[in-house]
Amino acid sequence: MKFNTVLHELRSAKNVGMIARSHLSFGGDFLILIGDENKWNFKGGPSTYTRKINEVEKLLFFKNFDDFIAWNKNEYTNIAVEIADNAILSSEYNYPENCNIILGNEGTGLEKSIIEKCDQTITIPQFGNIGSLNVAVSASIVLYELNKNRPISKIKGAKFS
Ligand SMILES: C[S@@+](CC[C@H](N)C(=O)[O-])C[C@H]1O[C@@H](n2cnc3c(N)ncnc32)[C@H](O)[C@@H]1O
Repeated sequence: MKFNTVLHELRSAKNVGMIARSHLSFGGDFLILIGDENKWNFKGGPSTYTRKINEVEKLLFFKNFDDFIAWNKNEYTNIAVEIADNAILSSEYNYPENCNIILGNEGTGLEKSIIEKCDQTITIPQFGNIGSLNVAVSASIVLYELNKNRPISKIKGAKFS
C-alpha cells in the first residue's frame, strides 16, 4: 500500500501541521501541497505545526491541480474527500493499493471541477447539526480507514508506552 496526502489550497498552517503528523504516523509517502508555494513559508518562528511539516522528507508543491495530475500519470487512484452527491462512504470504500487522498480547503472545500477530475469521491458520514468536519480531522479519519486492514506493527518512537 502506498498513499500520498494531497492538500488543495489549504489556508491554515495549523491544519497542514496536524495533517503532516497524521500523514507521517500512518506511513504516507508524499505530502503534496497545491497552490501558491510562498504561502507555506510560514513566518513567526517555528511552531509545533511547522516543525511537523519540516519533518516530512517527501514534500511536493504544485501550482495547480492540473500540474499535480500531470505528475501523477495515472499511477495512483485519485480519491477526493468531500461531501458530495454520489460519493461513497469512507467506511464502506475498498481503498486501492496506490492512491492519492485529496482534501479541500477550510473555506470552499474541493470545487466541483476538481472532484470531476478525480476517480472517486468519498464522504465521512456525519450525524449532527454541523455542515462539515475540520479538514485535519477529516484527513485523520480517512487515513485511519485507509490503513485499518494493514498488519499491525509496534509504534516506533512512542514516548509513553
Ligand atoms: C471545512 S471543509 C470545507 C467547507 C465546506 N465546504 C463547507 O461548506 O462547510 C474542508 C475539507 O474537509 C473535508 N471534509 C469536511 N467534512 C467532510 C466530510 N463529512 N466528508 C468528507 N470530507 C470532509 C473536505 O476535504 C473539505 O474540503
